[in-house]
Amino acid sequence: MARCHMRSLILFLVFALFASPSQGFSGTKNKIKSAVFFSPKLVMSPGSVSDPRLFDIDFPRGHIGIKGFDAEVVDEVGKPVPLHETYLHHWLVQPYYARKGSSKLPQQEMFRNHGFSRQDPETNLDSRSSDIIIVKNGGLCRGVTLRHYFGLGSETRKTSTYVPDPYAVEIDNPEEIPDGYEFKWLLNIHAIDTRGVEDRKGCIECLCDLYNVTVDEYGRTIKPGYKGGLHCCYDKTQCRVKSGFGNGEKQRNLYLKYTVKWVDWDNTVMPAKIYFLDVTDSWKKSEGSSIGGDSLKHNCHVEYVVEPCKKTNGDGCIDVKKKSLMMPFSGYIIYAVAHQHAGGVGAALYRESGEGICTSMAKYGDGVEPGNEAGYIVGMTSCYPADPVKVSYGETLTMEFNYSSAVGHTGVMGLFCLLVAQQLPEPKSSLLDLFQEEA
Ligand SMILES: *[C@@H]1O[C@H](CO)[C@@H](O)[C@H](O)[C@H]1NC(C)=O
Ligand SMILES: *[C@@H]1O[C@H](CO)[C@@H](O)[C@H](O)[C@H]1NC(C)=O
Repeated sequence: MARCHMRSLILFLVFALFASPSQGFSGTKNKIKSAVFFSPKLVMSPGSVSDPRLFDIDFPRGHIGIKGFDAEVVDEVGKPVPLHETYLHHWLVQPYYARKGSSKLPQQEMFRNHGFSRQDPETNLDSRSSDIIIVKNGGLCRGVTLRHYFGLGSETRKTSTYVPDPYAVEIDNPEEIPDGYEFKWLLNIHAIDTRGVEDRKGCIECLCDLYNVTVDEYGRTIKPGYKGGLHCCYDKTQCRVKSGFGNGEKQRNLYLKYTVKWVDWDNTVMPAKIYFLDVTDSWKKSEGSSIGGDSLKHNCHVEYVVEPCKKTNGDGCIDVKKKSLMMPFSGYIIYAVAHQHAGGVGAALYRESGEGICTSMAKYGDGVEPGNEAGYIVGMTSCYPADPVKVSYGETLTMEFNYSSAVGHTGVMGLFCLLVAQQLPEPKSSLLDLFQEEA
């Protein structure tokens, strides 16, 4: 029932933009299409947390190339909701293959049984006997964390996700579907309603004290010393609200509105693969070992803590966290962007030689309106190298994430998302190309 209602809410605005031939698409073959979808509703009230895994969401179907994925939280009438009312901790979309006929399982059941929990052995995910097979990104994290394709947090409104021409992220190649399975998408939205809360910063940084929880999302006792992070602000937890802040009439339904841009796949589109590098990855280069072996040791913790600096006035207090990782691919970086939480200043990715590859800086709002909320990261600058950056298999790249440590932070992140192309387009010189562009 709820699902039918949602479908009727979907504004299916497909329109075609004609890509300019000079950007690499010739003729009218590769029209960029765009569609706007709404997630199932999130019922939010002051202090509440929604963190559902929504299986089989609406998405363009077929063998396509994704060109962009943008999202924001809106209310019942489609009006954007500011971060100081509903903090968007993150959203992420994960493609998967579902066994045909298995979609009737209740969602929680599917969640427990099919390897999204960290407790499940990874082999579960790859098993062809499973009802669900996750389609993972290129790497580097092992296990079930950071295997998604697209995902951002509070910065979503002002961060470019556009995949530069002539590249796209290939989806649902019919030659890769296992027999008896179909391609689907899973959406995870993590939203925290901070209206009327006692400590807004504490709620969005998931301080355990404010959530009054003793066990994490998997029912495990929270370790002493764990002050804050995802284990304390999972689905249906509640952040402490100011006493007397009535919440009965303040309950409301919100949606993640997401806009997908894509092209139909054909041989003029060049594939780009998605990689996530995590500054908390505990991978270590070991003597004489191959990357293949080492790649199994990636253990991404996703979150970390920024301790407050010791200086009395907090001036110039910056927490710098660095990590060097060996790249398990050869290719060209055509896009890069970092993900940080409030307090983040910016991040950089560079080669062993010190040569910079990308600097992605945090943009803060200075008002109250959606997209410009003061105190929040409302965007991250992204990199589109004019000359795609060549990376060789086994090359070591270093990430650097800076946070202000004037005050401490819990549950912060330091991720770099890269789009890597295997090949560059052929230089355009033949008469045929010229002819096609004219046509
Ligand atoms: C915290 O949780 C306990 C049970 O786990 C409950 O008895 C107590 O009232 C809660 N405190 C607040 C402030 O909600
Ligand atoms: C991070 O901070 C260090 C020390 O202040 C500085 O040298 C570096 O340029 C900063 N990097 C970024 C990406 O802001």
